[in-house]
Amino acid sequence: MRIASLMGRFFCACPLKIMLQDKFILLGITGSIAAYKAAELVRLLKKADAKVQVLMTPDAERFIPALTLGTLSESEVYSTVFSEHETGSWTKHIALGISADLLVIAPATAQTIAKLAHGFCDSMLTATALAARCPVMVCPAMDHDMYEHPATQNNLSILRSYGYAVLEPEHGELASGLIGKGRLPEPAQVVAAITSVLTPKQPLLGQHLLLTAGPTREAIDPVRYISNHSTGTMGYAIAETAREMGAKVTLVTGPVSLPKPNGIEVIEITSAAEMNQAVQEKLPEATFMVAAAAVADYAPAVVASQKLKKKEEELTVALQKTPDILYNAGLKKRPDQMLVGFALETHDAEAHAQGKIARKNLDFIVLNDLTVPGAGFGTATNQVVILGKDGSRHELPLASKKEIAAGILHHLAPFLPKP
Ligand code: C5P
Repeated sequence: MRIASLMGRFFCACPLKIMLQDKFILLGITGSIAAYKAAELVRLLKKADAKVQVLMTPDAERFIPALTLGTLSESEVYSTVFSEHETGSWTKHIALGISADLLVIAPATAQTIAKLAHGFCDSMLTATALAARCPVMVCPAMDHDMYEHPATQNNLSILRSYGYAVLEPEHGELASGLIGKGRLPEPAQVVAAITSVLTPKQPLLGQHLLLTAGPTREAIDPVRYISNHSTGTMGYAIAETAREMGAKVTLVTGPVSLPKPNGIEVIEITSAAEMNQAVQEKLPEATFMVAAAAVADYAPAVVASQKLKKKEEELTVALQKTPDILYNAGLKKRPDQMLVGFALETHDAEAHAQGKIARKNLDFIVLNDLTVPGAGFGTATNQVVILGKDGSRHELPLASKKEIAAGILHHLAPFLPKP
């Protein structure tokens, strides 16, 4: 897998904090002068709320002290498989290899690359690599001639054949004073590549999303209606992102001024009753439904056939409840379908949202926090908390609505029924 071309694009679409939050990353550091960049790398990963465990080869400690990396990673640094003071179990390399989300080796010397290619396991790092069930990414850093030598290139080909990602070194000034290919990319670029490797490219392939978005309009007479401030921005961002992530998307949308998204089945409706009917028809085909529409809760009980004339000081319009589209979907939900609602509360938000999960038979609810500047109606950004029916809680920090859409869908993807 070559990752250089992809990583820039993905880095822009998904903020690090969303993509790396709670990820367990093993950082292998080997004996290259570029090891000094590892300190900044640990700092960036920790800033993105990843959990970092450093594994250093004994030679790496000649270039950067374990104390620096242990302090930055807030965790003991491992070097040898058998440490002197260890009296407990010796299977740490196995446990690490099983529990990690990614093993990244930056910088990776020609020596370590050769060992990995041929299955040597003479240090905590190489033993863990052999035991790893997670993806492995190797970032070679060495002198130009060592990098270009057929032995190193053959070893890298072997690593690629194992499915390892290889982040190509950069061309430039090397520690030897020579100019050539062999420099470890800057830590921010390594983090972007890590994000790219950790993100499945089309995690929604085979899924069919039924999505409601925008407001509804409830007619009072032929010229007037009851509605709300929803612009549909969040829902449309979810529609487009889901399509990019490989899902088939059916969008049931109220009246908005956004352009129709490409490659998506769009059903335009006006009222809650029409939205309800469209959802009832389409729900059986969907593998999951996300209700992002701001549905009017009440509609005039009678729609006047002619424009109401201005007469008395006061006008009373009798209202009746609209169908609760999501509740109705919850009644029909099959075990192989997932249902996700949105909630916009002004007080006791999380308690109310949990109540809604149970009442509407939802799997998740996305809670908008209206108290946060930059979140909610008509803004380009949002900040949400995703609550699960199992009591789980996942926060997405303030970001563009497109980034929040990606964060929501990436959070849901592992829980979706397999297509
Ligand atoms: O009960 P409440 O309106 O706060 O629930 C919000 C969620 O329910 C949103 O996902 C919204 O799209 C959905 N909803 C619906 N039909 C309604 C009212 C809300 O689908 N009539």
